[in-house]
Amino acid sequence: MASIEETKTVEIETGTNQDFGDLIIEIKDLWRKFFENTPAEVKALKGVNFKVNRGEFITIMGPSGSGKSTLLTILGCMAPSTSGEVFIDGTEITQMPQRKLSEVRRNKIGFVFQDIFLIDKISALENVLLPLLPYGIKKSDRKRAKELLKIAGLEDRMHHRPAELSGGQKQRVAICRALINDPPIVLADEPTGNLDSQTGGEVLELLRKVNKENGVTILAVSHDPKLAEFSSRDVMITDGEISRDRINPFRS
Ligand SMILES: Nc1ncnc2c1ncn2[C@@H]1O[C@H](COP(=O)(O)OP(=O)(O)OP(=O)(O)O)[C@@H](O)[C@H]1O
Ligand SMILES: [Mg+2]
Repeated sequence: MASIEETKTVEIETGTNQDFGDLIIEIKDLWRKFFENTPAEVKALKGVNFKVNRGEFITIMGPSGSGKSTLLTILGCMAPSTSGEVFIDGTEITQMPQRKLSEVRRNKIGFVFQDIFLIDKISALENVLLPLLPYGIKKSDRKRAKELLKIAGLEDRMHHRPAELSGGQKQRVAICRALINDPPIVLADEPTGNLDSQTGGEVLELLRKVNKENGVTILAVSHDPKLAEFSSRDVMITDGEISRDRINPFRS
């Protein structure tokens, strides 16, 4: 008898690595080794091939230590790879000098962490504006930050400091901060990992909203079954390799 899981989703035999003509991420034979050529060598990613079309909402699952965060940090231009190619919106990033890499990151990627990393001394609004600080904050930026906080249901909390917010509210501020540059891609590493299921639900709802309404492509590492319901595709990473990749035709 098919398990509940199997009845809810469909395995795509030819791979969900389908190219619908609008690829936003393409990964070719990506390897990441730590302590390379030493007795302690760890192969965190072992020849990953992966394609993401614009507008997808992908949940990444897998056991602890399987390479999920390693993959996300490489995609987020925050960590190097050992070999292979990574294209972000058409641009190959693995050979890029640091300065150009920061540019790709600034223009293309919003990153949401499990540990929320808000600055305690400043308001929610100022936290959202933080990534723009090096470039000077314009009036239009403040307007956009306020709009984002409104979308996140935090209109009446924007002048509060993180300590005065709930866990779910803080994580929603962090998502607004990830969206302030209007990135086409949001990478989220266990965005609800430290939250209870209700506050986690508020965070997932916000991710769903920006995916559906703004067409932001989302890759989220999560074990939350709710996220699997929201997402258009789920991918399992086991021991540095993609062991399952399937679309979710019952997406809610
Ligand atoms: N900076 C590092 N130095 C050495 N080894 C590392 C480093 N980062 C990760 N690793 C190793 O690479 C492998 C993959 O780690 P990664 O953090 O990507 O796993 P993960 O799937 O995100 O796990 P978790 O679910 O626990 O967060 C692990 O064996 C880990 O020990
Ligand atoms: Mg991890």
